[in-house]
Amino acid sequence: MDQTTAERRINQLRSELRRHNRLYYEDNAPEITDAEYDELLRELQKLESRYPELITADSPTQTVGAKPAEKFQKVAHFAPLLSLQNAMNEEEIREFDQRVKRQLGLAEDAHLEYVCELKLDGLSVNLIYRDGRLERAATRGDGNIGEEVTRNVRTIRSIPALLAAGAPPLLDVRGEVFMNKADFQALNNRQQEDGQKTFANPRNAAAGSLRQLDPHITASRPLSAFFYAVGDPHALGFATHEEMMRQLAAWKLPVNPQREICRHIDAAVDFYRAMIEKRHHLPYDIDGIVIKVNDLALQKRLGTVSRSPRWAVAGKFPAEQAETTVLDIDVQVGRTGVLTPVAKLEPVFVGGVTVQNATLHNQDEIDRLDVRVGDVVVIQRAGDVIPEIVSVKTDRRPAHATASFSIRRKVHGHCPSCAGEIVQPEGEVALRCINPKCPAKVIEGIIHFAAKGAVNIDGLGDKLIRQVVEKGLVKSPVDLYRLTLDDWAGLERMAEKSAQNILDALAATKQLKLDRFLVALGIRHVGEVTARALAEAFSSLEALRGASLDELSRVEDIGPIVAQAIRDYFDDLDYARLIDELLAVGLAPTWEKKNAPADSPFAGKTVVLTGELASMSRDEAKARIVELGGKVSGSVSKKTGLVVAGPGAGSKLREAQKLNIRVVDEDEFLKLLEQ
Ligand code: IVH
Repeated sequence: MDQTTAERRINQLRSELRRHNRLYYEDNAPEITDAEYDELLRELQKLESRYPELITADSPTQTVGAKPAEKFQKVAHFAPLLSLQNAMNEEEIREFDQRVKRQLGLAEDAHLEYVCELKLDGLSVNLIYRDGRLERAATRGDGNIGEEVTRNVRTIRSIPALLAAGAPPLLDVRGEVFMNKADFQALNNRQQEDGQKTFANPRNAAAGSLRQLDPHITASRPLSAFFYAVGDPHALGFATHEEMMRQLAAWKLPVNPQREICRHIDAAVDFYRAMIEKRHHLPYDIDGIVIKVNDLALQKRLGTVSRSPRWAVAGKFPAEQAETTVLDIDVQVGRTGVLTPVAKLEPVFVGGVTVQNATLHNQDEIDRLDVRVGDVVVIQRAGDVIPEIVSVKTDRRPAHATASFSIRRKVHGHCPSCAGEIVQPEGEVALRCINPKCPAKVIEGIIHFAAKGAVNIDGLGDKLIRQVVEKGLVKSPVDLYRLTLDDWAGLERMAEKSAQNILDALAATKQLKLDRFLVALGIRHVGEVTARALAEAFSSLEALRGASLDELSRVEDIGPIVAQAIRDYFDDLDYARLIDELLAVGLAPTWEKKNAPADSPFAGKTVVLTGELASMSRDEAKARIVELGGKVSGSVSKKTGLVVAGPGAGSKLREAQKLNIRVVDEDEFLKLLEQ
């Protein structure tokens, strides 16, 4: 390639990479996979190394990521957040080892100790702890300037507001915020039910959840974090990376226990191989491993080059993608009536399984991809997550695939299950069937009722449920309990023995925990976590059914929208009847409060929080008090046992003083928590 052609290609690559940076970092909506991005970046790097005179300071090879979004406060990192060089296969991992040894003047076959870690697929954050207290949290941004997300990060349960004793006066620590696959799935289900946008993968969900201007939204999203680096490990006096990791854990920062000291690069390659196998069984997504020189003195000698340290490399995994053809697009009706398009695919083997369906979420997603029946598409299976269509090969579109796909057109404006009216509620991207008797909704509702996290009816699978509904034997979950042995035994392929098993299984569900009962009802916004919080707060179904909006809102993690949805559910006459009938056939939900330590200073006390807390969020403070057997209330009364007052406390503090109630400041509160 001559220099002019190279220059043209370089410019092309740069503008493409910039666009993908923007899509990834600012819009959380990448159009290409990480592997494809890496390929572009490497092509650019190669060309630039051939023609170094063409390198510019603003080339994507010289900067990390994109500019932070305007809406967040920008903060300068104390030390830049670096990126990693990639190794795409075992050979490149060994090349990294050779490079390192050459730079250190070691023999080719010398033993060099590495720490292998997992490369979490989330978004990197930087936390500053001063005197052990979380002072500031920021996203990576461009590596030098990030976005300030302190209030959001405070809502992440596993990130401590206060480090354990012995933390240094200043700790600059880096890690990855991510979402577990199961939590991602639950969040997407919830978004779907609410007619809101679903996320394409856990990484996007984590990024979209952390970068929220309203921390309450972040608080409602199940985020996790692992930490793996500090700004200046040498200043803190550590000798090895592993020693630093142990110290971070001792200070109560979450670190990933899945890591390994490898005394030779062979062991690191073994770790890489093992993780390619194991990745699908991990609870979170990883896109590779990270291999780091363990000895910090050696790390220092190796130093960094432009954007990455020379002492570490990311061992990337081969992407689990495949091409196939869209045979058709079906529209399915869910429990809440949301119409979901599902692509029917030419069966293809990817990520260890044969895939024949891929969810398309909603019309917006179809439009974004411009996917049509007959198209060749790239699909991706990330872990146990439902397969997704990543992109459409528009250049290979068959001539007959002329029309773009419209859900409305496909269903002729009517519900495909009951032919009833469909609506698109304001502010939602989803279309919904609003007929409460729609058979598809009834079936999905009963499947939900009988599922594991709900009532858990052993042996009652989807097919059987479909059969009893379609036969007209069952119209609501309560009917399941009314069927006789003969009814069950009369079904297709059902021996008397199996029928008896179902009856026994149904009987066994009658004594159940209140939270599971609540999940089973399928109240909007009430998943497992909220159900548990409600059960813990009200202890009985009667108390919960009678709770006012105000009382509901006072429960930890329950905001006005969720409180209203719960109230609406119990006020609905049909739902009220369903509950009464379920109780009448013998379902008996009960709840035993968690036994808080009896000697806890909060046991049985009603606590009021007022003013600001510096070391933790309100939600965290509430959670800690509840854990220790206390109750948190929003107003001071004679029943109040303790008031925690921070700066800015006003009328509640005065009320407490008037009533002679014990008032503590934050330091005292922290001491009580530690007791
Ligand atoms: S170390 C100085 N360790 O990968 C070394 N990074 O492409 C900086 N990542 O920005 C990174 N897991 O977001 C490191 N165990 C791990 C990691 C990890 C995920 C991410 C991180 C970083 C990116 C580098």
